[in-house]
Amino acid sequence: MKNLKQILDISYPIIQAPMLGVSTPAMVAAVANAGGLGCLPLGGLSPEKTLDLIRETKSKTHRPFAVNLFAHSLAAKVSVDDIEKMENYLETLHKGYNLPFERKPISSYRFYNHLDQIGILLDEQVPVVSFTFGVPDADVTLKLKQKGIKVIGTATSIKEATILDKAGMDAIVAQGIEAGGHRGGFLEDESLPQVGLLSLVPQIVDAVKVPVIAAGGIFDQRTIKAVFALGAAGAQLGSYFIAAEESAASEVYKESILNSTDISTELTRAFTGKWARGVRNSFMKELKNSGLTIPYYTYQNSLTSALRDFGKSAGIADIISLWAGQSASRSKRGSTEALFGELINQIKSGPNPLF
Ligand SMILES: Cc1cc2nc3c(=O)[nH]c(=O)nc-3n(C[C@H](O)[C@H](O)[C@H](O)COP(=O)(O)O)c2cc1C
Repeated sequence: MKNLKQILDISYPIIQAPMLGVSTPAMVAAVANAGGLGCLPLGGLSPEKTLDLIRETKSKTHRPFAVNLFAHSLAAKVSVDDIEKMENYLETLHKGYNLPFERKPISSYRFYNHLDQIGILLDEQVPVVSFTFGVPDADVTLKLKQKGIKVIGTATSIKEATILDKAGMDAIVAQGIEAGGHRGGFLEDESLPQVGLLSLVPQIVDAVKVPVIAAGGIFDQRTIKAVFALGAAGAQLGSYFIAAEESAASEVYKESILNSTDISTELTRAFTGKWARGVRNSFMKELKNSGLTIPYYTYQNSLTSALRDFGKSAGIADIISLWAGQSASRSKRGSTEALFGELINQIKSGPNPLF
């Protein structure tokens, strides 16, 4: 069996996680140029934006990189009553910031789906496509593979990993509960998997045929070596790169991450309607205490987007999603190239080098 480096055509099996709102073409290209796999997050973006970001990344690197898409289907049931109550709640919050609140009919919500983007990925012949929130349809996977594009899926449980394995993924990301950002799982009718990486990685490794990439709480040579000892073939780091120079995170977000501790984060549905881990703030706390039913993803995501945009531009950490994992305090300032290089140097110079 080919190893992960051969499958992805990279020098080091170290992956910069796709982080929507944080990872930029400059970050992705810096990691690719340094021999790792940079991942460009494109989940839910318009076809125009998808093409622009791919072209921008290509202009900065000739090395392979991955693009990341959301493979979910839209929530089947949406309660108009829940949306209206949430609109009332948010409108009051907006007033406190002198921010207008726009109410839109549900039918006017526009969501882009990975099917709107696949044609572009095929035309652009991107080297690797990773999916989260679901399993791509068989014909999508087939079309990508026929073009020689490698396909990666994301699992938060053994059951999800075996489904992705059967669906023909070339590698599977095992996302532990420590991980920052959205839970990548997709078996909606089951309770949310909350498996720690130490339990998840070896059990998924035993259950699937393809290489497993560990994600969640990884930030240095110790944590990288630990996941390789568990049988992982690659390590995917997200939060570690949030404070990097090439990150699109706002200054107030970077500060929250750098000042966080092991217990600063929690899982919330408050911002998007989908479970995600971020640094606890008053929006999360107050919405939890409000007793309101939070509309499903991506309705809640649309409802809170104006508030989050405002918070980002005005530097108000209490109203923005501060996605981060349990080791996010170990994120560092510096260039992505330096941050990535430090990981490689640590591994090469530390005890029992992996490569
Ligand atoms: C800010 C942020 C945004 C994220 N966005 C995405 C995304 O767009 N697609 C995806 O597959 N995973 C996303 N993730 C999850 C990461 O791929 C990865 O699982 C996680 O960062 C690993 O945990 P760590 O943050 O502790 O390193 C995101 C994570 C963060 C922190």
